[in-house]
Amino acid sequence: MIKAVKFLIFLLFTSLIFVFQSSAQPAMYKEPFRPQIHFSPQAHWMNDPNGMVYYKGVYHLFFQYYPDSTVWGPMHWGHVTSTDLVHWQQQPIALYPDSLGYIFSGSAVVDKNNTSGFGKNGKAPLVAIFTHHDPKGAKEGRNDFQNESLAYSLDDGKTWTKYSGNPVLKNPGIKDFRDPKVMWYEGSKKWIMTLATLDRITFYSSKDLKTWTKESEFGKEVGAHGGVWECPDLFPLDYKGKKIWILIVNINPGGPNGGSATQYFTGDFDGKTFTPYQTDTRWLDYGPDEYAGVTWANTGNRKIFLGWMSNWQYANVVPTEKWRSAMTVPRDLSIEKVAGKYLLRSKPVPELNKLAEPPLHLENIKAGSYDLTAKTGDLTGPAKLSFISGTIKSFTIILSNDAGEKLVIGYDKKANHYYIDRTKSGKVDFEKGFARTHTAPRLVASNNMDMTLIVDNASVEMFADKGLSVMTEIFFPTQPFTHITIQSPDAFTINSLTYALLKSIWK
Ligand code: FRU
Repeated sequence: MIKAVKFLIFLLFTSLIFVFQSSAQPAMYKEPFRPQIHFSPQAHWMNDPNGMVYYKGVYHLFFQYYPDSTVWGPMHWGHVTSTDLVHWQQQPIALYPDSLGYIFSGSAVVDKNNTSGFGKNGKAPLVAIFTHHDPKGAKEGRNDFQNESLAYSLDDGKTWTKYSGNPVLKNPGIKDFRDPKVMWYEGSKKWIMTLATLDRITFYSSKDLKTWTKESEFGKEVGAHGGVWECPDLFPLDYKGKKIWILIVNINPGGPNGGSATQYFTGDFDGKTFTPYQTDTRWLDYGPDEYAGVTWANTGNRKIFLGWMSNWQYANVVPTEKWRSAMTVPRDLSIEKVAGKYLLRSKPVPELNKLAEPPLHLENIKAGSYDLTAKTGDLTGPAKLSFISGTIKSFTIILSNDAGEKLVIGYDKKANHYYIDRTKSGKVDFEKGFARTHTAPRLVASNNMDMTLIVDNASVEMFADKGLSVMTEIFFPTQPFTHITIQSPDAFTINSLTYALLKSIWK
């Protein structure tokens, strides 16, 4: 009898837990402002993407993470994985702070020849190269508190062991000495580390990932210098059989629209020195809300970029309660030659198309004032909108709600720039510089224009002219935007437009 009662109590208890869990579940990822097609952590603070590596069919995404708060603090590497770049599975935290400091940004590689010697029984190690940031040294005003260290995984990225010989690259006395991005350079059969060192990039080489030799410096006199250089990346892209090297350098502050942003250089790299083709400053994304973006390692000729969708100017105070920040959508990078210059293009990865509901296709829209949602029904979630126009005229695309809030995306023909105006987009007063209009130059002179917008609950990513002018922007409407209107004072004609709602990735 007692046994039966105990069993009943046990049953009641476990079913209560079940009810609690399943009722807790639906609320997850349903909070106001929660991105539905972008990765954001279940809870707490996130910044830069880290250690992005593709291995055995799995995309690993690590990220700067503070699991105890929704503001920046002692950095860990959070970890999620995906097989399609769209849906993300939560993994245990990969790296915790230790006696050498917090775990700042860095990269990961597949050491397939076991150059590091971390491999065992023929199993290739994954090796993470990151910055150890010693908060004590920073507080004491020292200039050697950031050093580069290693960790390795022998179970395909599930668990990580820190190298006992850390740090492997000691700081020579440069306050900002961080964010190592490592790649294999076949020409010299060496690893190349691209490191952000205050106001320039320093390249190091190594045969085993453990001993590093300085090769050269780049950038003190080139590019934007309105802030400190951070989170670099170096990789080749093919342009019609020619190898063009891209050097990405994130900078904070000093972006084209204030605060944090991603600049890039094109040039040659010979295993030791980066020689730029350009003297002008170029931005991978002109918007205020793509930062610390770098690419996945080990993806062959395909180069996939992902950034943190925020800005240090206000990242710690944006009005989300449970978590802070999301990532951009992953983007394929390629080169386009425009007026003799090699420019970088970004495009949302095609994998995202699998989220699309059956699309609406419209032709020959004469803008004036065209209410798209009158045709399609209210916006009920994220959407992808693409169009092509054979006329270059000023126009606006307005996302709005019944509370009178709006986000305006447009092109100004006279100024020849794209812009996004979030001054009336909802909650804007948590930081004095948030309510602004931001611009991006139009970089081509052609008579055709194309644009793709990826709209989520609290962000828009604009890709114009085949991804040459890109802007990422976050916003916080008090009610979701439900309407899309296209307006133009001129005879602006959209030749063809495709519009699709996107299914949430959390369902
Ligand atoms: C860039 C950055 C990196 C650093 C990390 C710390 O956003 O400042 O330079 O490694 O964030 O969280």
